[in-house]
Amino acid sequence: MTIRPASAADAEAIWQIFKAVVAGGDTYVFAPDTPRQVALDYFLGANVHSWVAEVDGGVVGMYKLISNRRDLGSHVANASFMVAPSAHGRGIGRAMGEHCLDEARRAGYQAMQFNFVVSTNKGAVHLWQELGFTILATQPKAFNHSTLGYVDAYVMHRFL
Ligand SMILES: CC(C)(COP(=O)(O)OP(=O)(O)OC[C@H]1O[C@@H](n2cnc3c(N)ncnc32)[C@H](O)[C@@H]1OP(=O)(O)O)[C@@H](O)C(=O)NCCC(=O)NCCS
Repeated sequence: MTIRPASAADAEAIWQIFKAVVAGGDTYVFAPDTPRQVALDYFLGANVHSWVAEVDGGVVGMYKLISNRRDLGSHVANASFMVAPSAHGRGIGRAMGEHCLDEARRAGYQAMQFNFVVSTNKGAVHLWQELGFTILATQPKAFNHSTLGYVDAYVMHRFL
């Protein structure tokens, strides 16, 4: 697996992964019918730094790294991750998570915060805890899960 900066040439691959992930309605607040341009703005928009993970020359996942807040809150990073459902559970999320922490340190961020980790997203919660994040807060019933209804979402954080 290689992880490299995303470019405009990755737009279609990013869109296909985005679409497949949000179709589940179980991990992100994006509706399953979110338009392509919204997805591309999210991962390839201005001031967004994104990377893609490739296996055998094909993109299997991506993440973005941004400031969590503007100006006086900009020393804290925020990131979002998506792995193609067909490639889950093969270490791609972990590799991107570690890569992201390195990139955030390199960019001078002091901490990383995830604002909205769905509490029932066991794989993600487990992975972020393994990578040193703690749950700072629980947002009660903040996510309308496609099959479970209203479930909690976590704010997760670690210093870098
Ligand atoms: C969450 C996500 C990024 C993880 O990526 P991945 O490539 O599937 O995960 P990995 O193969 O790197 O596994 C990471 C760890 O999570 C564990 N894990 C994966 N799925 C799990 C599950 N359903 N329950 C518990 N643990 C799970 C793995 O065992 C592994 O732990 P280990 O290294 O201690 O064995 C990926 O599944 C994904 O894109 N999901 C949909 C979008 C999403 O949830 N993004 C994150 C939003 S906060």
